[in-house]
Amino acid sequence: MRGIPPIILNKYSKAKQDWLLTSRGYDFYSKFLMVKGTHCLIVGNTGSGKTQKGYWMVSYLCELETIVWIDAGKNNEILPLFYLGKPVRVICPVGTTLEFPGLPDELKPDVIKITFSRDVWDAVKKGHINIFAFRNTIADEAKKARWMSEIFTHLSIRTRLNDMPSIFPMSIFIDEAQWIVTSHRIKSNESRTKAAEVITENALEIRGSEGRLILLTQSFRNITVASRENMPAVLIGRRAEITSSDSKVLAERSVYCGRYKSHQGLFVFPDGDINPWNCPWAFPYYPMPEGVTCRYIGFWDEQPKETDAAELMPAMSKYETQPREKEILISRFGQGVEDEI
Ligand SMILES: Nc1ncnc2c1ncn2[C@@H]1O[C@H](COP(=O)(O)OP(=O)(O)OP(=O)(O)O)[C@@H](O)[C@H]1O
Ligand SMILES: [Mg+2]
Repeated sequence: MRGIPPIILNKYSKAKQDWLLTSRGYDFYSKFLMVKGTHCLIVGNTGSGKTQKGYWMVSYLCELETIVWIDAGKNNEILPLFYLGKPVRVICPVGTTLEFPGLPDELKPDVIKITFSRDVWDAVKKGHINIFAFRNTIADEAKKARWMSEIFTHLSIRTRLNDMPSIFPMSIFIDEAQWIVTSHRIKSNESRTKAAEVITENALEIRGSEGRLILLTQSFRNITVASRENMPAVLIGRRAEITSSDSKVLAERSVYCGRYKSHQGLFVFPDGDINPWNCPWAFPYYPMPEGVTCRYIGFWDEQPKETDAAELMPAMSKYETQPREKEILISRFGQGVEDEI
């Protein structure tokens, strides 16, 4: 074993240092933590401890990478992230906000409001846990899907053009990933299905720039095929139910996962190795802080507008307005979100 340089080890608490120096901790350090851009899937049935395992993973990655956590918007689940020792920044659309009654002043986050989806990456702050709060702040499902797909399109385009702010290496956590990268066709919501494909393609591209996705989902089949086939590391929780037609290696590794408790899980490294063989790891618990809540206020798409676009329409001819909408449609830069949908 080659050991861990003090400059890295000293970033962690004594308990974490001790664990990183165990055989499995060192595997986690050398095969996952230090290999930037390694995507990871955390999978298990409802209540199997996925969100808890997500906090655990943030607690290691936040010392080495910028963290983005895409809020699934349920049960105050973002609150434990405020207690991981890193400053938190919440990013939401203009006209909305989040409040945290009961949260001690020293843990209060910056709340950054953005006008366009394309602004989100400039709002992300290195060394922070950045929470993207869009699920409960945009009411219309199609508009929400559009925001999410634009966010990932901008990420991919700007990464390719070397035009991103200096926030890499970065880990993007998507809890309840199926709300964004669902593999199922939703008849009533084509835009959401399309957004899932766009997000998968674009997000997976960032690996080369040291960006990784950590997807948390209830079923291996809930997310797009491209997503699941591009997850080199997998943290298998209870009843992950991966069949050999999905992945022979993962199916073999997950045979006993039906018996796991919610604090247990099996980390399968990108080389297919597990440590120790067939024995799940035990994960710590991150409690919900008592007396603290998270309130979402307002919807971006339900604000009174000073100048309603509809009022301007009669002044323009039909033929003047149509090409403009099309231009906005292909621009991929946020401005047309409201007009188009
Ligand atoms: N490491 C742990 N130690 C002790 N209890 C745990 C641990 N992980 C999970 N639990 C228990 O399991 C419950 C569910 O955990 P969690 O919310 O992380 O599951 P989940 O898989 O994200 O569920 P869902 O599918 O509903 O989002 C927790 O509230 C807690 O009671
Ligand atoms: Mg959860």
